[in-house]
Amino acid sequence: MASVFFSGLSVNNEGIRDYWIFMGENIKKRILVTGGSGFIGTNFIRHALTVRPDWHIVNLDALTYAGNPANFDALKSELGERLHFVHGDIRDTILLEQLFSKENFEYVIHFAAESHVDRSILGPKAFVDTNVQGTFCLLEVSLKSWEDRGRPEGFCFLHVSTDEVYGSLGPQGHFKEETPYDPSSPYSASKASSDHFVKAYFHTYNLPTIITNCSNNYGPYQFPEKLIPLMILNILDGKPLPVYGDGKNVRDWLYVVDHCEAIIKAVEGGKPGETYNIGGNAERQNIEIVNLLCDLMDNRLSRSGNGSSRKLIQYVADRPGHDRRYAIDMTKIKMELGWSPKHCFEDAFEITIDWYLKNMDWVKSIQSGDYRKWIEKNYQDRKLGTSTDRFVGEK
Ligand code: NAD
Ligand code: TYD
Repeated sequence: MASVFFSGLSVNNEGIRDYWIFMGENIKKRILVTGGSGFIGTNFIRHALTVRPDWHIVNLDALTYAGNPANFDALKSELGERLHFVHGDIRDTILLEQLFSKENFEYVIHFAAESHVDRSILGPKAFVDTNVQGTFCLLEVSLKSWEDRGRPEGFCFLHVSTDEVYGSLGPQGHFKEETPYDPSSPYSASKASSDHFVKAYFHTYNLPTIITNCSNNYGPYQFPEKLIPLMILNILDGKPLPVYGDGKNVRDWLYVVDHCEAIIKAVEGGKPGETYNIGGNAERQNIEIVNLLCDLMDNRLSRSGNGSSRKLIQYVADRPGHDRRYAIDMTKIKMELGWSPKHCFEDAFEITIDWYLKNMDWVKSIQSGDYRKWIEKNYQDRKLGTSTDRFVGEK
């Protein structure tokens, strides 16, 4: 019997463009996504299931503070069999072996990680455990399964990584795929280490792997410990806006859905063993981002003059080892895979702000006791002042 698939976009009552999918029977590709309940993983699953109606995704996630299974609640009835959630840890080799023997995955798309630089400074061990050891466990089981199945063509282990592995740029220049690794934080060191393991499994065992190194993402579902959602929520609550150092550190911002599209291009069309840099062509100083957020929020909240949110900005002690500038040369992915960002920064930035304002239930659900503890721990000991102030850290 022929199967009919139909998918599309609509504006739902949460106010964002969302996905509606009618199910068919012909699921052809089985994909393991790790960390699919976090920020990028959630956006990836929602996007991929829309644009690839023949994909069946197993989302393996340990549900750390950053993972939220409710991100898919609204889609449960539409997604049916196409999305399975498995609550588990990427270091659980037995669980991984069971999953691989049951599912015959064609792609492994590996997002699961500890992802916040400030947390890595206050507690680096979790970053070694998940990002290094976890990636190693996943590589081991992927390799065994791939070999047991006779090394099928088309298999791909895609490792989602970061531009932070390259370290910090001066005022000029861009990261290329050949830029030497020079990580500064425990987070970037752990991601660099995992990248090296992925490369080693390609070179030593021929496991078909691809690495993507992407710049800073923004968009719906980002945990409000990262710059943009943290500032949106602090502005809303009239709380101080803590800008590290002199606020002139530069990040290259990419809308998360563009990142998701790049990952699909890479896993489907990329060459095994290769790395692809992904960027947004949107370099901004942190203070520019915070000022823009203040102004856009003020429009929405009818604040002006003395009540302007810019008055909430406070320069605080800098992050130790704070990388000054990231910028991506994305010529390779553009030329070889035909990808470039589709969303313009100004529009996607406004979509992001409106998503948070319209999804306060989501925000409240994750602002648990743990979240409040983190905010206290990270910010209470940062003295007001300049970038030369020392960060005191944990009491
Ligand atoms: P996130 O912190 O929002 O989500 C991480 C997810 O991984 C969570 O759902 C968490 O529960 C899960 N997880 C953590 N440890 C796990 C474990 N041991 N086993 C199984 N699941 C576990 O992170 P994110 O921002 O969505 O980033 C996803 C990936 O993309 C990461 O690998 C990160 O390094 C990379 N990346 C992120 C950005 C960015 O701007 N956020 C940019 C470039 C690359
Ligand atoms: P972040 O969102 O943590 O991403 P990353 O460290 O991976 O780039 O931070 C983005 C930039 O914003 C970074 O230069 C640090 C800065 N920052 C602040 O100035 N204040 C804050 O409270 C946070 C969380 C970040």
